[in-house]
Amino acid sequence: MVGTPKTIGGVALVGTGSATPSQQLTNDDLGQRVETNDSWIQSRTGIRARRVLGPDESLSELSSRAGSAALQMAGWDPNTIDLVLLATSTPDDLFGMAPKVQAHLGTTKAVAFDLTAACSGFLFALITATQFLKNGSMKRALVIGADQLSSWVDWDDRRSCVLFGDGAGAVALEATSPNEDGLIGFLLRTDGSRGECLNLPQHKEYFPLVAGLSHQGGGFSPIQMNGQEVYKFAVREVPAVLEKLLTIHEIEPKSLDWLLLHQANQRILDAVADRFDIPYGKVLSNLSEYGNTSAATIPLMLDEAVKDGRVHPGHLIASSGFGAGLSWGAALFRWQGPV
Ligand code: UT7
Repeated sequence: MVGTPKTIGGVALVGTGSATPSQQLTNDDLGQRVETNDSWIQSRTGIRARRVLGPDESLSELSSRAGSAALQMAGWDPNTIDLVLLATSTPDDLFGMAPKVQAHLGTTKAVAFDLTAACSGFLFALITATQFLKNGSMKRALVIGADQLSSWVDWDDRRSCVLFGDGAGAVALEATSPNEDGLIGFLLRTDGSRGECLNLPQHKEYFPLVAGLSHQGGGFSPIQMNGQEVYKFAVREVPAVLEKLLTIHEIEPKSLDWLLLHQANQRILDAVADRFDIPYGKVLSNLSEYGNTSAATIPLMLDEAVKDGRVHPGHLIASSGFGAGLSWGAALFRWQGPV
């Protein structure tokens, strides 16, 4: 239950988890559907394959697997969780998917709800959850980023279908004392006036209701994207927001251990690294395997890098999410790991 704020404390990232569908769709597979090829996709995006949810899987089940793995790494009893915050734009149920995930996880005492901010969703949810932890009203939160864009892609539009895939990632967060705070700072932005270059709009279809009145039908059209505009937005705004955040906290880019960006396009990751003179070896990237999994990219990548030992306790990470809205933001945090 959300209570009255008591103290301004800190927050620690103590667990990660992820889950991906079993079906893999390679660039060569896509070439059977649209006029494209592996060489074009790899050179323009860095993507080699993506995962797509099949008939025996669901996004809520994937989210639960990711969440459960994060709880396990943190060593937490599900009954001790106060919040399950699920970032998604593609829930199984438009009324919200988080309560279903809560039930799967057995986090009976938690409040669970969805948050939608497209590809920035995980970052926005991470910052939202930390507010409850830092103000003293909650102790433990599970933040999940999950998306199933395969349901909403136009699989006959080669300009967009090659980019996206499905996945889920999760992070377990614990309230700490202020001097142990692992979330150093953040900046979040949106600009709806530029939203037209990437959206998943409601159908503009009307049906007769009663004499003289009509109603709009349910449902959505496939993703519409102006790739070049989104690309320009990302390579302009992501370095700008990161630079501002680093300046506010007087952190030099060279003291970062890792750059953890939303995995949209390898060229965007490289451009941001170049802007700060950060060696590519410090830029976390797994989009060759998964493509752009929207709200899932950042926790999916973090989980992989924690588990394979690249990210160590105490490492300083600069993260940035960006996408539809338009929305974008950055966060500076230290990975703590299980205590
Ligand atoms: O979370 C945010 C989600 N969105 C993004 O991150 C999108 C950001 N934008 C991008 O990543 C890039 O703009 C794309 C990868 C989508 C496209 O790359 P590009 O270098 O901007 O290509 P383009 O749109 O300028 O197209 C170049 C050519 C065109 O042919 P012509 O007109 O030069 O003859 C396209 O028709 O490539 C063609 N093309 C393709 N060819 C083979 C576009 N898509 C494909 C394709 N395979 N899949």
